[in-house]
Amino acid sequence: MKPLHARTYQALTLVLSLILLALIGKFFIGSNTSTAEDGRQAISLTANEAALIRSDMRLFLTAVQGITQGIAEDDMAKVAEAAKEIGSDQNRAAPITLMAKLPPEFRKLDFALHGEFEVIATQAEADDKAALLGLLSNILQRCNRCHEGFTLKTE
Ligand code: HEC
Repeated sequence: MKPLHARTYQALTLVLSLILLALIGKFFIGSNTSTAEDGRQAISLTANEAALIRSDMRLFLTAVQGITQGIAEDDMAKVAEAAKEIGSDQNRAAPITLMAKLPPEFRKLDFALHGEFEVIATQAEADDKAALLGLLSNILQRCNRCHEGFTLKTE
């Protein structure tokens, strides 16, 4: 049998570890979500944060429009230019306070999307037309995945 104080330390370490885990979990799981009336996860944001997300979204749609127009006109420079508007290096860092409110799945989908636009730009610059529609379809699937799962709620 261990001395009493050793067991007390053990218990204390366990309690502190649990508290720490709960705090880390709160950050990563995103405590700012609730279930919306339509069943999606509603992320609670300030009006400014929601406006930032929505304006990024409109940039996504503008890029998709530019890419499809470039494909229709067989203009690879236009495709590359539209895709680069979104590419990874254009990924304006969101404020950390906003990042912390976004669920990990949301951040993952958003992050992956930027990389996929980058791939479209590279393919267009290499004049590889055959792959473009397939890549765009993958991107649109990702848009849908996120829209089906998440909505925004203003605090
Ligand atoms: C990581 C999640 C996510 C991804 C990926 C995503 N969206 Fe969104 N989008 C949202 C959310 C959340 C909203 C707000 C919807 C709501 O409030 O119900 C939104 C809203 C929009 C809006 C409306 C903007 C406004 O002004 O209200 C457009 C347009 C849009 N998205 C386009 C796109 C396109 C195009 C793509 C893919 C290229 C895309 N989104 C990918 C999460 C995402």
